[in-house]
Amino acid sequence: MVDISTSLLSADKQKIIDTIYDLEKAKTDYFHIDVMDGEFVEKNTHDLMLEYCEYLDHISKVPLDVHLMVSDIKNYVDSYLIFNPNIITFHYEACKNKEEVISIIKYIKEKGRRVGISVKPNTKIEEIYQFLQYVHLVLVMTVEPGKGGQELIPETIDKIRELKNCRDTHNFDFDIEVDGGIKVENSQEIIDAGADILVAGTAILTSKDYGDTIRKLK
Ligand code: DX5
Ligand code: ZN
Repeated sequence: MVDISTSLLSADKQKIIDTIYDLEKAKTDYFHIDVMDGEFVEKNTHDLMLEYCEYLDHISKVPLDVHLMVSDIKNYVDSYLIFNPNIITFHYEACKNKEEVISIIKYIKEKGRRVGISVKPNTKIEEIYQFLQYVHLVLVMTVEPGKGGQELIPETIDKIRELKNCRDTHNFDFDIEVDGGIKVENSQEIIDAGADILVAGTAILTSKDYGDTIRKLK
């Protein structure tokens, strides 16, 4: 059975506490925290996500899944460590070279957190094969990072299949997480392709019954 990581990016800030309670009751497996820096992507969500993490820290036991869409990765890692996230994922494209990728993987592990690496839709999945033995998770973006509520780009689904084949061939044990445009109508195809964790924001938050939507996504 796949896990569902609910993105709070498109949540209504005025009702965030109720939304967090409702999502926990609806049995979301993770809260997905979309951190944007206004540099790697246009929007800046850092202050908002720190505020949400403070609330989550006080009222929820659901593990945090932090997705850093930022250029200055280590600095942002430091900002979220206090919330003891289950996983911290950074973007391969935000790194200058292979050495930087390796150093960030090491840095996050030394801080005692699980580490994920993410690729944007136009990045070939083969480019990160050299790092797969070191990570706990790979986040395949199925939309351009930057905002919620976009349509999934169908061509990205092949990358999930390739990644799963590679994992099976080499006996690696990272999780495959998929993020962007996931809804009840397309979740089965993504699960069949090999996803272990589905990120969903608008599909859940705009539905009437969060629990029912999460069950259907699974
Ligand atoms: C996009 C974010 C996603 C996304 C999820 O930059 O990483 O987490 O907003 O939201 P939906 O499910 O609305 O695409
Ligand atoms: Zn995300």
